[in-house]
Amino acid sequence: MFRNLFAVFIFFIAISCKQKNSKAAVDPQESIVVSEFYQEPYRPQFHFSPPEKWMNDPNGLVYHQGVYHLFYQYYPEDIVWGPMHWGHATSKDMIHWEHKPIALYPDEHGLIFSGSVVVDHQNSSGFGSKEHPPLVAIFTYHDMDAERAGRLDYQTQGIAYSLDNGETWTKYEDNPVISNDGIKDFRDPKVFWHEKSSRWILSLVAGDHARFYASSNLKKWELLSEFGKEVGAHGGVWECPDLFPLKVNGTDEEKWVLLISINPGAPNGGSGTQYFIGDFDGNTFTTSQTDLRWIDYGMDNYAGVTYNNVPNNDRIFIGWMSNWNYARDTPTQVWRSAMTLPRKLSLEKDASGYILKNYPLSSFEALKSPEEVLNTISLSEPFQLTLDNLMQNEISFEADLSKELTVVLGNDSEKVSLHINPVEKRLEFDRSRSGIVNFEESFGNKIQTQPYLPVTSLSEVRIIIDQSSMEIFIDKGKYVFTNQIFPTKPYSQLTLQGDAKELTQVKLFKINSIWNEK
Ligand code: FRU
Repeated sequence: MFRNLFAVFIFFIAISCKQKNSKAAVDPQESIVVSEFYQEPYRPQFHFSPPEKWMNDPNGLVYHQGVYHLFYQYYPEDIVWGPMHWGHATSKDMIHWEHKPIALYPDEHGLIFSGSVVVDHQNSSGFGSKEHPPLVAIFTYHDMDAERAGRLDYQTQGIAYSLDNGETWTKYEDNPVISNDGIKDFRDPKVFWHEKSSRWILSLVAGDHARFYASSNLKKWELLSEFGKEVGAHGGVWECPDLFPLKVNGTDEEKWVLLISINPGAPNGGSGTQYFIGDFDGNTFTTSQTDLRWIDYGMDNYAGVTYNNVPNNDRIFIGWMSNWNYARDTPTQVWRSAMTLPRKLSLEKDASGYILKNYPLSSFEALKSPEEVLNTISLSEPFQLTLDNLMQNEISFEADLSKELTVVLGNDSEKVSLHINPVEKRLEFDRSRSGIVNFEESFGNKIQTQPYLPVTSLSEVRIIIDQSSMEIFIDKGKYVFTNQIFPTKPYSQLTLQGDAKELTQVKLFKINSIWNEK
């Protein structure tokens, strides 16, 4: 009874607060009121998050006519996973996002799981014309009834097209276009145009491996080959493949990259994304890579894929900034989860083989305003800085990472730390006392580690903090930790200490909000 009265009281407070917020706006779906200011506790200020309700994987990343589209796994009824739709947002600069109406709704074939979008320039599908090429979405249908009935073939692949640059979509009448011959996890098609063989190539996952298909019209698909049953990490089911070519930095050598998300089985627990560097001849992907490689050793970068059709063949990656271990339990209300910052992928070669780096797009710089430029600081004793609020900041510096170094960010009772440990050749990130951690055990019960090779040349360390996330990029994206954090009070203190004599190029920036830019 008292609890009910209390709930009514809170409800009235919430309503009156909402009324005071005169800038509350109605989004294009009209059914939901969007707080223009995105001011709820933990609401990311410069990462994409949906106006309300549940979001997971990025889907259908495609650039067309000056617009970057971001579709995403969306459940519009609740802040936990449920029957999947494709939400939609667009951006012209990969910084600011405009919310769009839901793009794809479940239908008689099932829920709409992850997939991709291509620009059909030649109108191979016949859905549009060469003058007005259609956008074609290729996605997984998940038939809940069939799953409940105990069948294994409940995931199939379907397509839909848009003739108005993604505003409205029509499902293909002969869906599904790839049926299932009894594979339980059969999903997440990523399609691209393969120049050399002049046809579409589709990658999808089938439980413990990837499969490649080819098509001339996006409607009829032929199975080409499989990859991965005996290669890579297999601690969980394979998900969200992405196959694309990339030039090795500073050379003309081209390699093919295959991203595979896996859940569970990531190096620091739960969900993570591994990659393979190899060759694709139009039919088969091969690699001589024998070790495991991960795009990010943080716990919150999953199901990431890259944009199709970007000018200059730039590879822009976005991941879902969460982990299936606790995605449904994080302490946010109104909405749940955000995307990583858009990152540019690049390939480097060193003695250990090919390394896939990921690093924020340079367009992000436009959001930064210098707060403190400290230049060089001595580490003869620990360096400490206290500001009002460090929750929307970037801290960067250059350091000799062959020496031990610890970076701590926190408030008077909570903290996170990054420890460069050259003796163990390990980077360590600890969020066990970062704030609210007790919503699920694996969130904060161990120190995250990542192998690294200490070098005496200076490396850049870049830490980007939003209201509930911390992205750490070392050596321009060679080593990355992406993590959510939920402090109960803003972090305000920075401590740097270690064995190096000094840190150079030390900079602190404030990051403007993309939802409420001043
Ligand atoms: C990855 C994933 C995909 C699937 C989608 C469902 O996070 O499990 O494999 O298509 O989420 O929402």
